[in-house]
Amino acid sequence: MSRTPASIHPSRREFLGATAGQIAGAAALAGLALPRVHAAGSDEIRIAVVGCGGRGGGAAVDALSVPGGETRVVALADVFADRAQIVKRSIEEQFKERVDVPDDRIFIGFEAYKQALDCLRPGDIALFATPPAFRAPMLAYAIEKGVHTFMEKPISVDGPSTRRMLDLARQADEKGVKVAVGLMCRHCDRRRELFQRLRDGEAGELIAFRGYREHDPVHNLDLAPGRGDMNEVLWQLKRFHNFLWASGGIFSDYCVHHIDEVAWMQGSWPVRADATGGRHYQGKINDQNFDSYAIEYTFADGAKFFYSSRVMKGCDKKFGVFGQGSKGAFTISGSGHSPAKSTIYTGQKSDKEHVLWAAEQPEPNPYRREWEHFVAAIIAGDAYNETVRGAEASMVTAMGRYAAHTGRPITYDEYLNSPDDLTAGVDALVDGGPSILVAGPDGTYPVPNPGKYKFEYRDSVTPGQS
Ligand SMILES: NC(=O)c1ccc[n+]([C@@H]2O[C@H](COP(=O)([O-])OP(=O)(O)OC[C@H]3O[C@@H](n4cnc5c(N)ncnc54)[C@H](O)[C@@H]3O)[C@@H](O)[C@H]2O)c1
Repeated sequence: MSRTPASIHPSRREFLGATAGQIAGAAALAGLALPRVHAAGSDEIRIAVVGCGGRGGGAAVDALSVPGGETRVVALADVFADRAQIVKRSIEEQFKERVDVPDDRIFIGFEAYKQALDCLRPGDIALFATPPAFRAPMLAYAIEKGVHTFMEKPISVDGPSTRRMLDLARQADEKGVKVAVGLMCRHCDRRRELFQRLRDGEAGELIAFRGYREHDPVHNLDLAPGRGDMNEVLWQLKRFHNFLWASGGIFSDYCVHHIDEVAWMQGSWPVRADATGGRHYQGKINDQNFDSYAIEYTFADGAKFFYSSRVMKGCDKKFGVFGQGSKGAFTISGSGHSPAKSTIYTGQKSDKEHVLWAAEQPEPNPYRREWEHFVAAIIAGDAYNETVRGAEASMVTAMGRYAAHTGRPITYDEYLNSPDDLTAGVDALVDGGPSILVAGPDGTYPVPNPGKYKFEYRDSVTPGQS
């Protein structure tokens, strides 16, 4: 398999940052003729929001903010009724005219996403912002219904879920279903300018990258056993960052943007990951994560990317990705996802005295830009499918986590073909039923232990066995 798939490079249209509709002659794929003008005679694009948490609500606002987009939220789905009501109230307050969600279009439970998508017409949009484990079955249903899809990152958590996504990417193209993936940094105008400047050789040959996501815990760490009366799977979904099946853990969920940004600038996906990491908070009873990860990614040309993730209290905080070229250093994003404040320096010192180019400020919001690009493609009938790139970015991130959890290096091909299927059975979850991962008699969960297991926390790939 090529290490430089087409998916790593932005198309010319994407790079230029133009809206899809401004580009004449975009490739026409089979089946791109999903209806744009609906039976009612309007150009309205209906949206069903599935997963009404922080990001579901935020992405709904981004979707409703597309200028001239004629977007309207018509259905909500979640596994918790209160979450759906919170998002309904919040978006109604901001977009009274563009929210039409009566109580009978609010759906709760594991089948809720199907009921919400059943409220859409072919050519409308499904917005998936649940924990990542559900992406594949939900995208499969959207494709079946001919509904375009925006899905949050990460979209896969291991080799098998990545393979499923790659297959779904092909199916989406066949059906003319357009898919956007919430790796919004790819839609950042300033990072796109940096990408072109790097291609033009302004930093010379790209030799090394480094990145950091180091901060206090922001997810739920339970130090006392017991989940009360709550069903185990719902309880796990409330703290999905803690469970590898639900999210790929904090490394996959938090770090995928940075790893994707570096691979984009470098021009290929890493071919190998070597890693280490550890658990320092021994009292955690329901968290499969390490508290720190240190990954050495290697690219096919020998370039390196050193990435450090630490989620611990009271330590230094760092957040950003940086590169070193033969002519000079550069910042891809310096302190947060937006603004990126991308910069190229005249030499290896990254200080104010050595700036060759600095991204113009203020920067357009990439969360808004990704929706503008997506809706423009729908309106113009242009090809648009970020699934392959999103799956590869998600898998390469998970590959780093896997190397740390097992204590063994792993290659891209080995991991893509790995049999350890963390989300096996996710499409069979039912309300009130058991979870994919069941706590032991003492209420604790298996944790990775480098050098001990064949896979991350178990020797068998059969769900429920360790
Ligand atoms: N692009 C970004 O910068 C960005 C930022 C934040 C979150 N995210 C992503 O968005 C996703 C959600 O994150 P969040 O912070 O909003 O989490 P959250 O816990 O606030 O929201 C998740 C919601 O999904 C619901 N849910 C869980 N399982 C469901 C199911 N099977 N069907 C329907 N609803 C279900 C939960 O009840 C919850 O309301 C994650 O994948 C995360 O990585 C992306």
